[in-house]
Amino acid sequence: MEQTLSIIKPDAVAKNVVGQILARFEAADLRIAATKKTRLSRVDAEAFYAIHAERPFFKDLVDFMISGPVVVTVLEGNDAMAKNRDLMGATNPAEAEAGTIRADFADSIDANAVHGSDSVENAKIEIAFFFAEREIY
Ligand code: CMP
Repeated sequence: MEQTLSIIKPDAVAKNVVGQILARFEAADLRIAATKKTRLSRVDAEAFYAIHAERPFFKDLVDFMISGPVVVTVLEGNDAMAKNRDLMGATNPAEAEAGTIRADFADSIDANAVHGSDSVENAKIEIAFFFAEREIY
């Protein structure tokens, strides 16, 4: 079974739509293998998004990701990585297809409700960033 990492970002947590978003994963046959609510430190967020360190939006991204708690989830199922990306919709909610999480819950490209791993290889790295093996079932 493939696994991927989802982060429900501070904007969606503040809107109190965590349950609605998790329900969409389950409705699409993705299983919650691990989940927790946490708040990232600046060091955490900079490390998690290190791949974007040279991008002009990096500081805003980090500032936003540490602005409030997040809900981090390991999703498991057939094609979990691609399926989660379909459910999320385009990074920019203005371009996200109707019915996707970002179209329904996101306000801007920064406050875009959710993050999802962009490859199976990165999913392994991102899952290990947040969870010990004994926390994933
Ligand atoms: P995420 O999937 O979490 O990965 C990196 C985040 O950077 C992305 O979602 C957006 O929230 C944010 N971001 C801000 N500006 C851009 C941009 N121009 N291109 C890609 N991501 C951006």
